[in-house]
Amino acid sequence: MTKPDLSVTIAGIHFRTPLIAASGTFGYGTEYLDVVDYSAIGGIVVKGLYLEPREGCAPPRIWETPSGMLNAIGLQEVGIEKFVTEKMPRLCELDTSVLVNICGSSLEEYAELARILDDVDGVSGIEMNISCPNVHEGGILFGCDPNMAARVTEAVKKKTSLPVIPKLSPNVTDITAVAREVEAAGADALSVMNTIPAMAIDVETRRPRLKNIIGGLSGPAIRPIAVRLVYQTANAVQIPVIGIGGIASHEDALEFLLAGASAVQIGTMGFVDPSVWRKTLDGLEDYCRRHAVAAISELTGAVET
Ligand SMILES: Cc1cc2nc3c(=O)[nH]c(=O)nc-3n(C[C@H](O)[C@H](O)[C@H](O)COP(=O)(O)O)c2cc1C
Repeated sequence: MTKPDLSVTIAGIHFRTPLIAASGTFGYGTEYLDVVDYSAIGGIVVKGLYLEPREGCAPPRIWETPSGMLNAIGLQEVGIEKFVTEKMPRLCELDTSVLVNICGSSLEEYAELARILDDVDGVSGIEMNISCPNVHEGGILFGCDPNMAARVTEAVKKKTSLPVIPKLSPNVTDITAVAREVEAAGADALSVMNTIPAMAIDVETRRPRLKNIIGGLSGPAIRPIAVRLVYQTANAVQIPVIGIGGIASHEDALEFLLAGASAVQIGTMGFVDPSVWRKTLDGLEDYCRRHAVAAISELTGAVET
């Protein structure tokens, strides 16, 4: 059998493999050059950016949990200007698609980030982290309200011709309501999902493990929840879905593809094993050969219920 086609195209963006580095777990893309086989990576989503630099939350910011980790980094980032002038030129040297993850405290901040990125060489698309508090609406997270999620998507779409990919939060009653609203507002694809709000306590000191008290849970512990949300989302919308949550192997990636994802992102497990990229890609290729799958894209949504 000829080599299976492992590339995917999502919202017009070509990814040479279906494995994408998740925002916040792969820095600004070049930090892992010494330890990761970049040829296995189809795309990189950079750390979430605001207009201005941020220092993030005070430590401790990370706590390991059963099959996962809690983090409250608090969106420590360099700000859009430094990203464009210092980080992006280095990313352009890599042979991989680049998605820029944006954050905002207001509709206007998201829109301005989109406007700036529209002109930047090498940016393939914008992933919107909508799990950010809206300061003008009492700190409600954009992504937790379908209407607000739609309005911020619309504001971003107006300012850019790049594909726009809102990243949905699992912290909602009905993810399909948010998915449908942002699709109607012009989203080109969806990323599912961000971390799950969670908490751990040191019983000896009676103090929370994280300075921020609450953090985001990631890693294999959250995977079945993420697979379920991808399945529900993919069945609710026409636009492509990128699956995220605890992927540690090719079997895990396949679960997301079969549930309806067109590609997947790997985050936490890259910290545990930098060879996860190569091993997962090789496993996908082997699976395609064993199951006579000519193109990985054939597997999207192929779960038999
Ligand atoms: C340390 C850390 C930082 C993160 N920073 C961001 C971020 O800046 N923007 C964002 O949209 N998601 C961020 N995430 C969420 C991940 O991109 C991903 O959605 C989540 O971790 C689930 O995938 P995983 O289980 O493979 O890590 C972060 C996750 C971790 C662990």
